[in-house]
Amino acid sequence: SGENVDLFYNTVLNLTEQAGKIIKENISSRHKNINFKSSNIDMVTETDQAVEKLFIDSLSKEFPDHKFIGEESSSTDQQELTNDPTWVIDPVDGTMNFVHTFPHSCISIALFIEKEPVIGIIFNPMLSQLFTARKGQGAFLNGERISVSDKTSLSDALIMMEFGTSRHPERLRNCLENQQKLMPHVHGLRALGSAALDMAMVACGAADAYFEFGIHIWDIAAGELIVREAGGVIIDPAGGKIERFSRRVLVASSQELAEKLSQQLTQLYPLELEK
Ligand code: IPD
Repeated sequence: SGENVDLFYNTVLNLTEQAGKIIKENISSRHKNINFKSSNIDMVTETDQAVEKLFIDSLSKEFPDHKFIGEESSSTDQQELTNDPTWVIDPVDGTMNFVHTFPHSCISIALFIEKEPVIGIIFNPMLSQLFTARKGQGAFLNGERISVSDKTSLSDALIMMEFGTSRHPERLRNCLENQQKLMPHVHGLRALGSAALDMAMVACGAADAYFEFGIHIWDIAAGELIVREAGGVIIDPAGGKIERFSRRVLVASSQELAEKLSQQLTQLYPLELEK
C-alpha cells in the first residue's frame, strides 16, 4: 500500500544520505583498492562493496521479506524479477569516474513491486544532485519538480551515449559506428560515464535522449522511473517494450524522438555475443 511505500522511501533516502558520505569521503583517495570484473575497464572498488553492503544489510533488517539484485553481489546476469518487493542497486554507477575522481558518479537504487518500479533514486554526492521519483508522484531534483525537454527532432537533440565497459571488438565497432552515424544528424553527443546520470539528464531536460548496448538492470532501474515520472519514455533500442535483462536501453523525452533515434542506430544484442 501507499503507506508502506512511504516507509520504504524514507528508509532508503536516509541510507542514500549515509552512502553518499562514504562515496564523497573516498573519491579523493589516490590509492583505491580496485578489482576487475569482465574486463580491465570493468571495475569494482572497496567503496562499491561497502555501499552495497550498507543498503542490503540495513534494508533486509528493516524489511526481511524484500529481495535484492545488486551489482556487486549478483554473481550472474541470469536473474529474474519476481512479484516480491525487490531492490535493484548500483552502489556506485560510474565506477571508472570514481576511480579517476571525475565527479560524475552516483548511487542508483530502485524498488520494484510486482515487476514495476515504484521508487527510484539517483544521488551524486559530489555535486549534491538528488534525483527522486515515486510511482505516480512525479520526478524531482533536490525537491524541485523536473520534466523532460520538448525537443522532438534529432537535429535539435543532445544525445547521451556511452563507451561502455567492454573491449569486445564487436561492441567497440558498434559504438564507433553509431557515433559516426549520429554525428551528422544530431545537435550534440555526450557521455557522462554513468548510465544513471545520463538518464537523469534526460529526465531534467538537460539532454534529450540516451541509448546504450551493454548496460545491466542495475544501471537503468532507478532511471526508468525517474524518466517516466518526468514525462519521458523508455523503450528497446529497436523499438517496442524495454526488456530489462536484455542489456539494451533507449530513453527519450518523447516517443517521437525515441523512434527517430531508434531508426538511426545499428543494433547490437550483447547477450548474443556472450554465447
Ligand atoms: C557503468 C556505467 C557506464 C556504462 C556501463 C555501466 P558501473 O556502470 O554506467 O557509464 O557505460 O555500461 O556498466 O560499472 O560504473 O556501475
